[in-house]
Amino acid sequence: MTPSHEKLVAHLLQAVGLPPHWRRAFEFVERHRFLPDQVTLPDGTTVDRLSAPEQWLGVAYDDIPLVTQVDDGAEDGTGYPTSSASMPSIVADMLRRLEVHPGMRVLEIGTGTGYNTALLAHLLGDEAVTTVEVDPTLAEQARVNLMGTGFVPLVVTGDGTQGWPARAPFDRVISTAAVKRVPYHWIAQSQPGGKILTPWGNAFHNGVLADLRVGSRGTASGRFCGNVAFMWVRHQRTPGQVVATYVSDEHEFRVRRTGMQPNGPLAFDANFAIGLHMPTVINVIEFHEDEDDQRFVMYLVDPDSGSWASWHVDPGAASHEVRQYGSRQLFTEFETAYQWWLDSGRPAVDRFGMTVSVDQQTVWLDEAANVISSMP
Ligand SMILES: C[S@@+](CC[C@H](N)C(=O)[O-])C[C@H]1O[C@@H](n2cnc3c(N)ncnc32)[C@H](O)[C@@H]1O
Repeated sequence: MTPSHEKLVAHLLQAVGLPPHWRRAFEFVERHRFLPDQVTLPDGTTVDRLSAPEQWLGVAYDDIPLVTQVDDGAEDGTGYPTSSASMPSIVADMLRRLEVHPGMRVLEIGTGTGYNTALLAHLLGDEAVTTVEVDPTLAEQARVNLMGTGFVPLVVTGDGTQGWPARAPFDRVISTAAVKRVPYHWIAQSQPGGKILTPWGNAFHNGVLADLRVGSRGTASGRFCGNVAFMWVRHQRTPGQVVATYVSDEHEFRVRRTGMQPNGPLAFDANFAIGLHMPTVINVIEFHEDEDDQRFVMYLVDPDSGSWASWHVDPGAASHEVRQYGSRQLFTEFETAYQWWLDSGRPAVDRFGMTVSVDQQTVWLDEAANVISSMP
């Protein structure tokens, strides 16, 4: 191991509490072998292996996500990130939560670079690991990366929301792409007692992990945990550029002021709970161009009705301007949902859970009977 690789493993041991079997996998699998020549850092800087080899090797072992593809590989797009090597501490945390042991069979959705697949194959053996990647170019590159490091799990090119029935049933399903609706195929292809771990969210909030147990009656149920923001599976993406598309100064919007301060509803637990009440509303925060200027605008956009609201926050001020346009009063809905969360005793994310059946996905608070929202 290089010193930077050793340092990353030590960090993961401490930050995530990695058990020994995962420690060995993280020591064995070299992350840089899974990265393309160009990777983009969270601040938007692109690092090129050819022009900056040492920096490239360094960032490979930093605990940061690295974007490896934008716009599904198309040229001249808007730069929408579509694949990445996930943040190592998130990778480690998900593998720890998966509670997977040799002898089990795993389905992974979102192969990406193949790094997570290699970690799984190191622990379980190639035969036990099936991974599905929707993008043919990425799938092929992942096969090359995996083979180059001595692993040959089954890498399927296809839509992972369909699972891979030929290798079912699985003991564990792990998705490294976020869903709004947990695909029922994952449950149908799991053993009773199996586990499904997936990033989950909605248009408003991305997201958390859903940690589900598959029951004997064709349902899966469990709580939310974590604080993660994954890329969406392809067919469940939230559209980008919504402020430019839907919000206009020329609309006849209503204006009022609110004394509500941002630190309450924008804090993680509250914001997650608000999103459960307005799951199709897209929430975008735009900061001031001048980094020293603390003002920002929160936009709420409902593409279905064309309604939008904006909250012009000036930190430190006693009140802030609110604009609302369209048939839905989106900021009023936001205030009401926040008040619901306060009145419910400010529940943290892990007091919420989800039950998924063939025809419904319900989100509940504390117990399955206390349903907050449901979708077909
Ligand atoms: C965050 S990246 C995965 C990171 C990866 N596990 C790694 O270690 O490098 C998410 C991946 O999910 C893939 N993806 C998106 N929708 C998918 C789908 N419906 N089925 C399979 N893969 C999908 C994307 O192409 C992308 O490569």
